[in-house]
Order: sequence, then C-alpha cells, then structure tokens
Amino acid sequence: MTPLLIDCDPGIDDAVALLLAIASSAFADLPGQVAGDGEKSSRFNILGITTVAGNVSVATTETNARCICELGGRPELKVFAGCPRPLVRQPVFAEHVHGANGLAGVEFPTPRMPLQSQHGVDFLIEMLLQSPKKVAIAMLGPLTNLAVALIKAPQIAAQIDRVVIMGGAVGAGNVTSSAEFNFFADPHAAQVVLRAGREQGIDLTLIPLDVTHQAIATPARRAALAALGNRAGGTVARMLENYGLREQGQRGFAGPPLHDPCVMAYLLEPGLFEVKRCLAMVETESSLTLGRLGVAREGDGQGDGQGDGQGDGYNVAIAQSIDADGFYRLLTERLARLG
Ligand code: BDR
Ligand code: CA
Repeated sequence: MTPLLIDCDPGIDDAVALLLAIASSAFADLPGQVAGDGEKSSRFNILGITTVAGNVSVATTETNARCICELGGRPELKVFAGCPRPLVRQPVFAEHVHGANGLAGVEFPTPRMPLQSQHGVDFLIEMLLQSPKKVAIAMLGPLTNLAVALIKAPQIAAQIDRVVIMGGAVGAGNVTSSAEFNFFADPHAAQVVLRAGREQGIDLTLIPLDVTHQAIATPARRAALAALGNRAGGTVARMLENYGLREQGQRGFAGPPLHDPCVMAYLLEPGLFEVKRCLAMVETESSLTLGRLGVAREGDGQGDGQGDGQGDGYNVAIAQSIDADGFYRLLTERLARLG
C-alpha cells in the first residue's frame, strides 16, 4: 500500500479526485470483494488530507473535504486546514468555475466529522517525519502548504517518495494565456517546490493542463458515472453538469476536463501516461506572464539511466499525454465501489 498525503482545494475536480483516492484506499476491502495482487499494490493508505485556499477560501475547502470524506463513507479520515493565502500575492479564487460553495452548488449535509485542530502544514511535517515508510504526496491545488513545509522543515524531503502535482501549462493557460490556475494562484510556492526537485532531489511529476485537457468527461462518460446507481456516481455526475462550461465553449471540448483526478490516476496506473523529464521553472516576476510554467530543457524520458530521477540536470517529470479511455475506465470502476 502506498502511504499517501492529499493536499487539495475542493473544488469540483478535487472532490472527484478525493473520491477516486478513497475508492482506491484500504476501504476497498468490502465484503464479497476479491482484490487481485495487482490491485493490492495499487492501493492507497490515506494518512491525511490538508486543504488550502484556492478555488475557494480555506474555510470552504476544509468543509468540502470533510463533506466528500463522508460521501465516500470515510468519516474517520483526518482533514486539516492549511494556509489561508498564497506566499506573496493576493488570493485569487475560482468561484465562477466551481460555484460559491466550491462544489457546483450541490448541497451536502453539514459534516459531522471534526476538522483537526493542528495546522495543515504542521501535520504534513509531523506525518512525514514520523512515517516509517516514504510517503507519496498528491498536490491538487496551489502549492502553498508544501512550499511552507519545505521551508520550515527541509529535512522532510528525505521522507518524500514522490510528489505528483496538477499544475502548470506548457501550452496555453486557463487563467491567462500563459498560466494555469494552481500556478497562477501561488506562483512563488510552485517555484519553491520545483526548485526542491532540483536542489533536494525530490521526485516531482507534473500533470499539466495540456494533459488534463485530454481527459474530457464526455456525455457518455458522465452517463456511465450516473449509471453506477450509487450516491458517489450520482453526485459526481451532478457536479459535472455545469462544470467547465466556459472552457468547453472556448476550446470546443465535448465536456469538462477532469484535472485533479489525473493525479490519482498517475499514482494508481502510471502506464496511462507518457512522461518526459524536463528542467522547468515558474515565472514569478513578470505581471504579464505570472505563473507561467517555463520548460527550459526536455529530456528523452530516460533520465541518466540510474532510474533515481536525479543527476540528469532535470528537476521534474512532465506528463505529455494520457490514455483518456483508460483513465475513465479506472475512475468508473473505482467509484463503483463506493456507496
Ligand atoms: C486546476 O485549477 C482548479 O480550478 C482545479 O481544481 C484544478 O486543480 C486546473 O487548472
Ligand atoms: Ca484543485
């Protein structure tokens, strides 16, 4: 089992990613379910969920994370509120995309599970330092919490197995023509994390907008989720009804792209993606191109042949493409396990 920390800003697609993670976690030991060996090795042990200001305020993202844990039948999971604002710039939110409640206006019962009192950043540090095994981290929002953790306790780097990030755009952005939302919302934090890939040897993978734009929830794919007949599938289908309409109009997509669940899919089935090692950084100076992902050099995907992701002058693996049918097969199969 992969020990996993999830940092997020739910957010409609964050909510779907959380459900995919929950459905792929130890909870999958449902009566009558026989897991094959391959399936066992692709399961998560969710150590905790931290939230950040991003799509909506941190007060709303932590509440939403708890709503989604309860929807997924996991009220014992621990949710922590992290940073309420980016490192340097003023907060930017995306309520026009995710709705005022961050979950497309779909109403959830007030969560009964408590918010943990510890700050999200302190929890990240403590959990990493005390874990007997290296931990994978899924980053689904602005990178503020991880950046602060790395600044406060750089020794956590040695405890990180890998960090998989939804963020950046190699081509056109979705907030400005250069920048993707998570990098635009906290470009300085994104730069701290990308630098840590180079300077502290952290194994980083980016799933940029160019790839998540290939993961379109077409009407047929949404119908398959609705047809699962469980609460999770029905709620996801409802949240997706009006999600990403502007992007669909502008780019001619046949449905909304599901950005954040791609991170979970990469952790579960990396074979669904093609990746290349690159040297990349984030624009933090120019107001015109703030948050732009700059790819300075691209490798051939092989690194230096050591397989350790280090020593090749690159700081990050950037996904280039996704098998979208395989991704929706995985998502639909996994969500079918939920109530
Ligand atoms: C990213 O921005 C947010 O609105 C989504 O949740 C996703 O993490 C896509 O640019
Ligand atoms: Ca997000």
